[in-house]
Amino acid sequence: MISEREAVDAGNVIGGERREAASGRTFESRNPARHGDVVGVFPQSSSADVDDAVAAAQRALGAWRSTPWPRRGEIILTAATIMEQRKEELARLMTREMGKVLTEARGDVQEAIDMGKFIAGEGRRAFGETVPSELRNKWAMTMRQPLGVIGCVTPWNFPIAIPSWKIFPAIMAGNTVVFKPAEDTPLCALRFVEILLDAGLPAGVVNVVFGDHEAGDAVVRHPGTAAIFFTGSADTGRLIATTCGQMLKKVSLELGGKNGIVVLADADLELAVEGALWGAFGTAGQRCTASSRLIVASAVLPQFTDELVARTRALRIGDGLDDAVDVGPVINETQLNRIHGYTEIGVDEGATLLTGGEMARDGDLAEGFFYTPTVFGGVSPTMRIAQEEIFGPTTAIIPVDSLDEAISAANSTQFGLSLSIYTNDLRVAFRAIHELEAGIVYVNAPTIGAEIQLPFGGTKNTGNGHREAGGHVLDEFSEWKSIYIDYSGRLQRAQIDTDAQR
Ligand code: UN1
Repeated sequence: MISEREAVDAGNVIGGERREAASGRTFESRNPARHGDVVGVFPQSSSADVDDAVAAAQRALGAWRSTPWPRRGEIILTAATIMEQRKEELARLMTREMGKVLTEARGDVQEAIDMGKFIAGEGRRAFGETVPSELRNKWAMTMRQPLGVIGCVTPWNFPIAIPSWKIFPAIMAGNTVVFKPAEDTPLCALRFVEILLDAGLPAGVVNVVFGDHEAGDAVVRHPGTAAIFFTGSADTGRLIATTCGQMLKKVSLELGGKNGIVVLADADLELAVEGALWGAFGTAGQRCTASSRLIVASAVLPQFTDELVARTRALRIGDGLDDAVDVGPVINETQLNRIHGYTEIGVDEGATLLTGGEMARDGDLAEGFFYTPTVFGGVSPTMRIAQEEIFGPTTAIIPVDSLDEAISAANSTQFGLSLSIYTNDLRVAFRAIHELEAGIVYVNAPTIGAEIQLPFGGTKNTGNGHREAGGHVLDEFSEWKSIYIDYSGRLQRAQIDTDAQR
């Protein structure tokens, strides 16, 4: 177990070996709650390092894809079990490196454990189909085959859970992986890969290259990567999709969100306030599922607003390792400035700043990147703070006068990840389930907190039609092979020898 104050000097993991960047360049990972605390030093990789990683993944592919599915599943289950044993250590490391409060960091690790256990079972399922042939004495069936070397490019906000959503099913299906984790959370990624190796994963099946967009871009562009799985911003997603489109490479994009909670007049208001608070300020709002819009019926607007603002003001900001803290830091200075920029935009647009809207710098907070939980009132659906993903602890109350107006406000963004409605009217709830334009809909719960056994992903500009997790996840990470076995002993011509069918 690493001490909380010891900086790790780490290498890429390529073919099971620790490697410096070819250029010798490095970067630091620092604690966003105490910027002086260096968590680790990592290689700043470039295309030369990615070339090596792809070559190692290609070398490992033959043996791994022919390893029986149940054996692959056992290794994943062992990895999940090790994570379970080391959950507290991993969670504390995550809080130190990424900032989310410890209870949420434990949840992040738990999500990976859940994914590992869930997908490991596919080792004894991964069914194909046996299908009747149109001809006599001919057998027809399907089986899954891996895609090849998969490039996984992941964000910092779920430093272990999101890599697990991609890497566990990727290797379950017999692929090998080149993993480029976010520059802000390399140590969490390294620990995840080490656990896979400790669980018995053969060298080269998962390779990690650290670095910034240069390394990520090299993974995407490399002719040796058969598919790219990316979670991040819509702007980067578009660039990746363009490259992959040119190369005819499969690409799964999990992009932004501008998720809304609709609160109707008949809702349990206390429950709705509680949900909004958790949805908007959990992970300091740094979830693609964050509840960044609160669409509230005018009949309950004053009461909802007063209670939400009071509860928001009571949130304690600080280092997430402190149990008394509700909201940790945001990831880095660039994000802090961006979040504050949106406060200025909201004020300029004429929204009412009800609470927050400041960088928090009292005492120890000055050592990190803290932002006061922020609520805007009087927001119209077309304002930029109601349209653009802020990725910070900022939420916007949008007043509405009817259910129609609420649904249309909820749907009025470019994104379609997660939407929610608070109501006790069953008919209204079902109407909302059908009419809310999103990949995920919650009733009487906030927009965050998806479970791994259901598909995760969104409509519109949230992605390109793919889903992660869920019971169909292998469809994303494998492709079908159709097999015909003719045991008639003669040439049978499908679609032509129709007499032979009788
Ligand atoms: C993300 O923010 O990219 O549903 C993922 C949730 C989490 C995952 C969020 N289970 O909020």
